[in-house]
Amino acid sequence: ETIIIKVNKQNPEKALIKKGADIIKSGGLVAFPTETVYGLGANGLDEKAVKKIFIAKGRPQDNPLILHVAEKDQVSPLVEFISKEAEELMEKFWPGPLTLLFKRSKLVPDCITAGLDTVAIRMPNHPVALALIKASDVPIAAPSANTSGKPSPTLASHVKEDLYGKIHMIIDGGKTGIGVESTVLDMSGDKPLILRPGGVTLEQLREILPYVEEDLSIIKDDENIVPKSPGQKYKHYAPKGEMYLFIGNLDNIVNAIDEYANKYIELGKKVGIMATDETKSKYNKGIILSLGTRKNKEAIARNLFSTLRKFDEKGVDIILAEGVDSQGIGKAIMNRMKKAAGGNIIRV
Ligand code: TXA
Ligand code: MG
Repeated sequence: ETIIIKVNKQNPEKALIKKGADIIKSGGLVAFPTETVYGLGANGLDEKAVKKIFIAKGRPQDNPLILHVAEKDQVSPLVEFISKEAEELMEKFWPGPLTLLFKRSKLVPDCITAGLDTVAIRMPNHPVALALIKASDVPIAAPSANTSGKPSPTLASHVKEDLYGKIHMIIDGGKTGIGVESTVLDMSGDKPLILRPGGVTLEQLREILPYVEEDLSIIKDDENIVPKSPGQKYKHYAPKGEMYLFIGNLDNIVNAIDEYANKYIELGKKVGIMATDETKSKYNKGIILSLGTRKNKEAIARNLFSTLRKFDEKGVDIILAEGVDSQGIGKAIMNRMKKAAGGNIIRV
């Protein structure tokens, strides 16, 4: 049995947050909203509690977790040192969708870091998450609150779908704001390196770190490149239907999707088309869902995971998805879409 409580997202009720914090303190699992996606939280300093996260999600043991803090003072006990640049990034982007990798201290349990010598830390920009961390009075370990391999949850109902009965509580704070996960930035080495594109964009980071680079596995579609972030190597964000991602000139994308739709419908498949407001009226068959307007990629990011789940609910066999440009948040959107599509990328 999982307790589900609804809270006021701007001003969460203290008594309700305390219930969640009591569960965290006693070694249980609580799903809670952040500004990116819902997280599945446990006391990050309690090895036994953290292990429950891996079991509930079916998460591979070699995939490390992010520790969530509510105050900058919580960072130094967890890390060996904080560079000036890391300090500057925390100042500028925290609370917010930026996860920083530091050399870990001995305080951090091995199951958090999956045996690596670095620890990932972020301060979420969400009143409910911050209140829960403060009331728990420990760093909270939290991966996205989905079953491993499924699209990340942007609504409490997504968490319920995946984890009901497997965790102690779900705190429902409504729809999450950003809709894709945090940017993971490795500050532990000589050069800052982006391991996962996310809510804070490359362009924003370059304002502070002009020389920041991206891990090769983000730039290339080559599956043989081993990503530096263990989580990036798994099949991810995957709907049940088989997805094809179309990249290129928009008119060509629409034509190609139309052709593929015809082909698969002829084969007796149920086809879903992941379109945008600009293109949705150009299709005349299949189940057509729009991510929103191409003029507002923030909205597209917000709708991406829930749209993938909607196609699952409708039982489509094939999802034909339009790509977007990879400026700004588009980079994170395309990273998630490519993973959802596995290797099925069609350039037109
Ligand atoms: O927005 C987010 O980051 C959400 C919310 C809940 O905060 N959390 C999230 O956690 O996306 P998760 O576990 O789904 O993704 C964390 C990513 C994984 O790809 C993991 O491999 C990587 O961060 N990561 C964590 N610690 C790492 C480390 N020490 N070295 C390299 N990658 C690490
Ligand atoms: Mg995840």
